[in-house]
Amino acid sequence: MQIPFNRPYITGKEIEYIQDTFSKRKLSGDGYYTKKASRFIEETFSVQKALLVTSCTSALDMSAMLLGIQPGDEVILPSYTFVSTANAFVLRGALPVFADIQEDTLNISPQEIEKKITPKTKAIYLVHYAGVSCDMDKIMEISQKHNIPVVEDAAQGVNAKYKNRFLGSIGNIGCYSFHETKNYSCGEGGAILINQESLIERAEILREKGTNRSKFFRGEIDKYTWVDIGSSYLISEILAAHLFAQFEQLEKIQELRKNIFYRYYNALQEYERKGKLRLPFLPSYSSSNYHIFYILLETQEIRDHIMDKLKASGILAVFHYIPLHISTMGKKFGYKEGDFPITEKCSKTLLRLPLYADFTSQEQDYTIEMLYKILE
Ligand SMILES: Cc1ncc(COP(=O)(O)O)c(C=O)c1O
Repeated sequence: MQIPFNRPYITGKEIEYIQDTFSKRKLSGDGYYTKKASRFIEETFSVQKALLVTSCTSALDMSAMLLGIQPGDEVILPSYTFVSTANAFVLRGALPVFADIQEDTLNISPQEIEKKITPKTKAIYLVHYAGVSCDMDKIMEISQKHNIPVVEDAAQGVNAKYKNRFLGSIGNIGCYSFHETKNYSCGEGGAILINQESLIERAEILREKGTNRSKFFRGEIDKYTWVDIGSSYLISEILAAHLFAQFEQLEKIQELRKNIFYRYYNALQEYERKGKLRLPFLPSYSSSNYHIFYILLETQEIRDHIMDKLKASGILAVFHYIPLHISTMGKKFGYKEGDFPITEKCSKTLLRLPLYADFTSQEQDYTIEMLYKILE
């Protein structure tokens, strides 16, 4: 049996909606499906303004422009994340100030954030790893106390919650990913969620190449022109149509993933009791979207051995991330091995198992059986 690490889920409605964009003769951005999908995000996740963009990376780039991040500013973020979280503000000349993660959730630690604040701190970029929420009350309290805005990199957190609020709707700005590897996808796509009224108008401008074209299309002005910096961040209608088909099955997709997550969890609990591995921790304040199922092994050697053996059995399991502080770029900013021990340990010992909405019981049974053999 060959088991990929990820397989994009198709609901069956995608082709119909994409064909409809051809009938409507509207393929560029902000047509019928872009509007439907944006409204869906606003209504379902209680967000003031959602704009569909080409990727979460684009949404993050826009967030740094929106917050007016300048050369020499400092921005606090976890080192345990994807490069886009950092590039967003490094592109504007700001310095990444990394903070270590909590050992339980693998999310940025509020205490570590507070230690890193200086007069130069311009923003806090947090990541909800695996669709499990950061400790938001504590982080928002720090944000308010020091008057520093928060950007939620909720690339992995669509349809997950902190207490009764959806991830991406809590900080000043939220960023979603609809990349093929995410729970709801259209190949490449994203959304920027604006939770601060004063940023909405400028967000529309940055997304429309620095023009006020969105106002023009709404009939609010009689011609549009260049008013600010910006770039081409609009998603095509074709992709928005694909995405909307996925949104229509929001809960079904989550339910499928939840079942797979708990099948792994229950099957591996005994090995956690025996001390052979650690399972994901879901704090009571978090409602997960089951984006990732990982196990933490005792050492890197054990993790790599399991990963190799699974591969030899046709099962693709992967690790991530190379911590940003010890990447080539991280070192250029003066960071070194040993700076963030929890992040480094996690990167060496974490293994992600295959998880996608139409992962069959047969495929999962085979994966679990192979894991049992290797663990024994
Ligand atoms: C935490 C995080 N941020 C940002 C991204 C980038 O998302 P996109 O591929 O939509 O640009 C990812 C993608 O994996 C991610 O995991």
